[in-house]
Amino acid sequence: MSKMKDQKLRSADWFSRSGKDGFIYRAWFKKQGIPQEELSGKPIIGICNTWSELTPCNSHFRELAEFVKRGILEQGGFPVEFPVMSLGETLMKPTAMLYRNQVSIDVEESIRANPIDGVVLLCGCDKTTPALVMGTCSVDIPTIVLSGGAMLTGRHHGKSISTSDIWRFSEENRTGRMTNEEMILAEAGMCRSDGHCAVMGTASTMACMVEALGLSLPQNAAIPAPDSARKVLAHLTGKEIVKMVHSDLKPSDILTRQAFENAIKVNAAVGGSTNFVIHLLAIAGRVGVALNLQDMDTYSADIPLITNLQPSGKYFMEDLYYAGGLPAVIKTLLPRLHADCITVNGLTIQENYGERACYDSDVISTLDKPFNEVSGIVVLKGNLCENGAVIKPSAASKHLMQHTGKAVVFETIDDYKARIDDPDLEVDENSVLVLKNVGLKGYPGMPEVGNMGLPPKLLEKGITDMVRISDGRMSGTGFGTVVLHVSPEAALGGTLALVQNGDVITLDVAQRSLHLHVGDAELLERKSRFTPIDLGYTRGYTQQFIQHVLQPEEGADFDYLKGGSGSDIQRDSH
Ligand code: FES
Repeated sequence: MSKMKDQKLRSADWFSRSGKDGFIYRAWFKKQGIPQEELSGKPIIGICNTWSELTPCNSHFRELAEFVKRGILEQGGFPVEFPVMSLGETLMKPTAMLYRNQVSIDVEESIRANPIDGVVLLCGCDKTTPALVMGTCSVDIPTIVLSGGAMLTGRHHGKSISTSDIWRFSEENRTGRMTNEEMILAEAGMCRSDGHCAVMGTASTMACMVEALGLSLPQNAAIPAPDSARKVLAHLTGKEIVKMVHSDLKPSDILTRQAFENAIKVNAAVGGSTNFVIHLLAIAGRVGVALNLQDMDTYSADIPLITNLQPSGKYFMEDLYYAGGLPAVIKTLLPRLHADCITVNGLTIQENYGERACYDSDVISTLDKPFNEVSGIVVLKGNLCENGAVIKPSAASKHLMQHTGKAVVFETIDDYKARIDDPDLEVDENSVLVLKNVGLKGYPGMPEVGNMGLPPKLLEKGITDMVRISDGRMSGTGFGTVVLHVSPEAALGGTLALVQNGDVITLDVAQRSLHLHVGDAELLERKSRFTPIDLGYTRGYTQQFIQHVLQPEEGADFDYLKGGSGSDIQRDSH
């Protein structure tokens, strides 16, 4: 598709001006060694870089940006690299999610305020992708995403390991089956190259999401970070964005309702993270596509799991690439997708993926012989989650998909930490662990603690999974029968806040139901005694976050950030 609008470049409003304004815009820019001809009608391409040594998953992005620049220059554009706040999943406290919306503001305002005609988003670690995409959608200039790629598979004692093993190592360590010294050795083998987590965690889920939406070139999702093909992709991405500026191909042209439905189906097929739900809803909110929580269930319900990747399966992102990458997955899914959706290179999903091949059926299977008939995100409803909750069935235990048990309640994460190892804790394998106040407003930021570790006394008995319920999130690398994103969250006085020890709860995944067996009158009485948790935030960003963040079924965006403001600027600087 090529609109080939012969329109004036956005950057011309800075660099083509005469008089004092043009002088000031150009003079300071030229101090970087830029000849006049570069500012005479070439598209100015921003490279929005989340490089940071505090975001180890993105630490190779300065090098990657150089390959993007080669492509931009070759295609006749002019690259300008700019930093935005980066979000490192492993180091940031209390949780990187607290800052996703903040970064989206940084990205939106940085793009709009500057002489940029098109933008390449360098995304990697979990939140960097949705934050950057949300920001650019609110400006809506030509945009292409380049993900940093996953790490090579980790190795420890002759075995392949990656982030999903952390949860197993942790439980073995807590029960004394793995020493602290062995843990140190394992962590040295876990992250052995550039890139983000090597399983289908949230970062890879996001990389798949942008490719499925049509926001990146084919193969963006799975080329490993250290592979030379990632640098080639960066080069080609640089070339493509210049073409996109010439054809004025914007996110709003690509991100149609059908593109979002495709992304939901692809996410189901790859066993993507539950975090996908929140981020996709937020992106849809920015481009004005009416997408809701129920759509996550509706459009993934008939899609089986056709990739055998941890945490739902066996293999790693590297293996997905060798098996044909996401293109082979999309090719398999084509009969179920909107194949005429347009993508960044102007070609449709059908044109990009129709001839792709699978090279390893143990990693990517067919719709007829899937690895699991059950996939995707199941949306639960019931009196315990009036506005919804989610569970990832492919990462859950079959025997717990329909389960009734008595609640063991933890009022806060601190309460959980203080009591979970207590040998006297009244809990057995049929209990339902309930964790409150780990939601967006209650924590704040909704950390990934929903797959809370099991009590050691049950681990010692060989119990590996229990039903767990919270208003928090779970790492995309996590697994278990874990009900997440319960809404309204406990801090808002949702029913979750009213659950007491010993209450009976029924989870029925097939029926999409989560029920607390307590009568309405009793719940009303408990509600009358409810007092919200007081976190004591009175200033700054965190206070603003608590005030404005929407619940997970609305994408956890800020109320005032939904939609976009376009790329126009009402006032000049001089
Ligand atoms: Fe960055 Fe997993 S910690 S992707």
